[in-house]
Amino acid sequence: MGKSLNQTLTRDANSRYDRVRLMLEHRSAKRRFERLRRVYHQPLEEIFPGLSRTRARMQSAVPTAASFGNMPAYDLLVLSTVCAHLQPRLLLEFGTYDGLTTLHLAMNSPAEARVVTLDLHPDDPIRQQNTEDTFYTRGVTVGAHFCGKPEGRKIQQVYGDTTKFDQTPYRGQVDFIFVDAGHAYELVRSDSQKALEMVRPGGVVLWHDYHYTHDGVYTCLNELTSSVTLRNVPDTTLVCHISPLSGG
Ligand SMILES: C[S@@+](CC[C@H](N)C(=O)[O-])C[C@H]1O[C@@H](n2cnc3c(N)ncnc32)[C@H](O)[C@@H]1O
Repeated sequence: MGKSLNQTLTRDANSRYDRVRLMLEHRSAKRRFERLRRVYHQPLEEIFPGLSRTRARMQSAVPTAASFGNMPAYDLLVLSTVCAHLQPRLLLEFGTYDGLTTLHLAMNSPAEARVVTLDLHPDDPIRQQNTEDTFYTRGVTVGAHFCGKPEGRKIQQVYGDTTKFDQTPYRGQVDFIFVDAGHAYELVRSDSQKALEMVRPGGVVLWHDYHYTHDGVYTCLNELTSSVTLRNVPDTTLVCHISPLSGG
């Protein structure tokens, strides 16, 4: 299997020649991303009026804050604030990883909320493949951040490949969905279709990694703009869709 754009751009450059080459590859990938962009920035307060008055709860001094698989701190702050603002009762996350974001979804939702989070089983053979979606998950305990925490009782860990997940029991039911599992185009497309089927009218879907290093994500989200309204939260790689209350 060939290397993905993400694997190529995040490689170590050991010689001066390769460092220069890598810098030029980043520049060219950024230009391509901006040329193809179909999801445009919109200020958070316009997407969610009143959000600036919302306070989110954050886990302090997170031991793996800079881990490759976790999102940047500001993205996590935005996601937590949107969650605290909306007070969703049924939440679903594609891609648990170490559970840091799952914990924040649980910390910023009402006491009676349920957070369903999906990831590959720790022994799933897919984890042994060397793809952009697997190499950094080795040695990481799925859901480690919420295990033993009081908010953990709200969380239901589901193991399995998201492309095989049966979304039908959740159709039109979920208040808040976070899509952040596989980044290859086919995976993002499948997860996005399921998310759009599961979100309730008026509910919210957020995607992570709308960024020049993730061509699978941005290609899929750009395509989706022909059927749904998507906005990119400024200074983050988060993309947001609010499901219309009726029709469309
Ligand atoms: C970027 S990490 C998720 C990070 C997490 N949402 C957070 O914010 O901290 C992506 C996760 O998706 C999982 N994943 C990748 N492909 C998957 C698939 N086909 N089915 C289920 N999980 C998958 C990986 O095992 C990894 O833990």
